[in-house]
Amino acid sequence: MSASLVTVAYIGATILFILSLGGLSNPETSRRGNLYGMVGMTIAVLATVLGPRVTTAGIPWIIGAMVVGASIGLYLARSVQMTQMPELVAFMHSLVGLAAMVVGYASYFDPTSTAGYSPAEKTIHEFEVYIGVFIGAITLSGSVIAFGKLSGKIGGKPMLLPGRHWLNLIGLLVVIWFGREFLHAETIDQGVTPLIVMTVIALLFGIHMVMAIGGADMPVVVSMLNSYSGWAAAATGFMLSNDLLIVIGALVGSSGAILSYIMCQAMNRNFISVIAGGFGGGAPAASGGAAVPAGEVVSISAVETADLLRDAKSVVIVPGYGMAVAQAQHTVNEITKYLRAKGVNVRFGIHPVAGRMPGHMNVLLAEAKVPYDIVMEMDEINDDFPNTDVAMVIGANDIVNPAAQEDPGSPIAGMPVLEVWKAKTSIVMKRSMASGYAGVDNPLFYKENNRMLFGDAKKMLDEVLAALKG
Ligand code: TAP
Repeated sequence: MSASLVTVAYIGATILFILSLGGLSNPETSRRGNLYGMVGMTIAVLATVLGPRVTTAGIPWIIGAMVVGASIGLYLARSVQMTQMPELVAFMHSLVGLAAMVVGYASYFDPTSTAGYSPAEKTIHEFEVYIGVFIGAITLSGSVIAFGKLSGKIGGKPMLLPGRHWLNLIGLLVVIWFGREFLHAETIDQGVTPLIVMTVIALLFGIHMVMAIGGADMPVVVSMLNSYSGWAAAATGFMLSNDLLIVIGALVGSSGAILSYIMCQAMNRNFISVIAGGFGGGAPAASGGAAVPAGEVVSISAVETADLLRDAKSVVIVPGYGMAVAQAQHTVNEITKYLRAKGVNVRFGIHPVAGRMPGHMNVLLAEAKVPYDIVMEMDEINDDFPNTDVAMVIGANDIVNPAAQEDPGSPIAGMPVLEVWKAKTSIVMKRSMASGYAGVDNPLFYKENNRMLFGDAKKMLDEVLAALKG
């Protein structure tokens, strides 16, 4: 394939990736968006492998690597549980970081990568290597820690070292100083030491950055690492002089940054403060007053829940992480269909950080074929709770916690929440009185108009459906 044909293929792939991102912004067009992405990636891989920069001798190696990679990817995609997706995404980000790092080292050691370069071009290339390895190493170690935190292998509590901002600043200054040494190195041997020192500092920096972030702020970290992985890919593109990788990296990097901003808004967090760490430690609510859980909880049976639903004119369902764990979305859809057929106005209220990844609930509801037009975002539905007869909370906790509004001492203070307690009756479906991801007590459970339906969400909803039909 000639170089000009490769350029045309790259432009085509770029357009498809942009269309893909556009499609993914809406549930109704997301399938098409995915398809554009798949076609774009196939074109990109074929154009790169068949392009002039890959020798015939290299093709069997690439095919071998692709078979191994695709088999692992296929196995993971088939076997991973929906609830493990965030960990998988974090793990994937770490691979992008690792790739950027490895390409950086390879590109530095390979004398042909700078053959024919003028001194200025060589310096620019080395600068790209240094930055690429730096971003790649932070992405790698940060994503590994995020993987550990999301999968519960590492605790959610923020690790706050004394003088941590100073440590970061000193680390950054050392990285800059060694960067100068690296660029001034006469030989590859002289440049290796600064490169290794910087890599170690960047790895430690990634660990420190994510360890300092509390459990409640992990959604921001996930999208932030998504952004970093994009910039790492763009840096790889610069090192390899591959325009497509630069463009795609920039697309992922900037869309990840926008997502981080949206997440911060959804949680009423300041982006810089989140990165600086220490938030969301899961400490128990500090102050006294109305938000401290008090009183008794009133439990309810599946049959009583069915009665309340049958008598309601308006029902809002708020799904959370527990619905994903219980895989209750199909029963939820059955109940929704039944109630709507009886003339009940059923809608869904989706919090931007419900579950464990952006869009987690939307994916599950779409899988169960819940109509898109009754799935509302938090801002669209929050004002309607006072006119709602039953708010049914299915395996959600933090996103319906009134302490976010009522208790300034709470770790989730200021986070916008779905105001289910304003409905005539709220029903919370969960297995126990355990707290949610942020580790914060929930005063909703003790409100006078709240009922608790204890048990596995799928089992309880099956019973509710049977009672409704019976
Ligand atoms: P959580 O606050 O984590 O609450 C989920 C609740 O589901 C738990 O209290 C649990 O109580 C219940 N549950 C678990 N398994 C269940 C089952 N089989 N049947 C019934 N209930 C079950 O979830 P949420 O309200 O969706 O809030 C999301 C939280 O995750 C937020 O703090 C958010 O910041 C964080 N987070 C979000 C993301 C993204 S990007 N969405 C990423 C990382 C973290 P029991 O154990 O008593 O059943």
